[in-house]
Amino acid sequence: MSHDLSGRGALVTGAGMGIGRACAEALAAAGARVVVQDINPVAAEEAVAAIRERGGIADTLISDVADTAAFRVAITRYERDDHRIDILVNNAGIGSGADFVDVAEDHYDRLFAVNVRAVFFCAQAVVPGMKRRRWGRLINVSSLQAVRGWPGNPHYIGAKAAVIGFARSWAQELAPFGITANTVVPGLTRTPMVAAHYSDERASEHVRATIPMGRLGEPSDIANLVAFLASPASQFISGQTISPNGAAFVGAM
Ligand SMILES: NC(=O)c1ccc[n+]([C@@H]2O[C@H](COP(=O)([O-])OP(=O)(O)OC[C@H]3O[C@@H](n4cnc5c(N)ncnc54)[C@H](O)[C@@H]3O)[C@@H](O)[C@H]2O)c1
Repeated sequence: MSHDLSGRGALVTGAGMGIGRACAEALAAAGARVVVQDINPVAAEEAVAAIRERGGIADTLISDVADTAAFRVAITRYERDDHRIDILVNNAGIGSGADFVDVAEDHYDRLFAVNVRAVFFCAQAVVPGMKRRRWGRLINVSSLQAVRGWPGNPHYIGAKAAVIGFARSWAQELAPFGITANTVVPGLTRTPMVAAHYSDERASEHVRATIPMGRLGEPSDIANLVAFLASPASQFISGQTISPNGAAFVGAM
């Protein structure tokens, strides 16, 4: 079965940097036309330029993914221009690291707006087109912390657990329309988000203590799985939670 995405349209949220950028590049390399959505215009333009340099097709959508009304308008316009979103990678996310008792309400609300609410409503905006075409791929990016737990960070972990539930529900509701929904669960991966929260020393300590493969994940480790889940080859896989994590966690998801 083919991994070729020629003729397909994909949108990756938070695709300017890190895991999202790697996903956008992998999907473009497989032949998809990719919308690089990001709140950071410089990062988004750089990602699009890199894709185009390699002969890929990419457009930018500069917006705050939490502004779901703007997202809906942009999708309507894009589809009116005869483009399509067959693949949605709900990747944009913000980290935190705060302890339970220190989390302020506005911080909690913002984190849930980006990490949960946007995932729900971005999918809601693209699913009607997928249903009409009877083909679609919804891929949520969660976190290993949501599966195995972690001391501290309960708002981030709760948010990342919620998107696993969305994918499980979408998988069963949307299966009759040829739409699959899965969740990718990265272990600790070398990205700007991780650099902001982990010193090199803390990251090495984490690797030594918890990752049998002896290294952090690279964004491409996650993107390779996303490209597979986006492809025709994954057509019978839906509602699953799959974790590229260097064997850091091997239990049931
Ligand atoms: N890096 C890891 O170790 C790791 C582990 C588990 C899960 N994740 C998840 O993977 C996803 C990507 O993480 P990353 O490490 O690549 O992050 P990152 O911070 O390195 O990159 C995130 C990208 O999303 C964009 N973004 C942030 N807020 C946005 C918003 N409101 N609207 C649109 N774009 C926005 C940023 O501008 C940036 O380009 C996140 O959902 C994160 O929770 C990451």
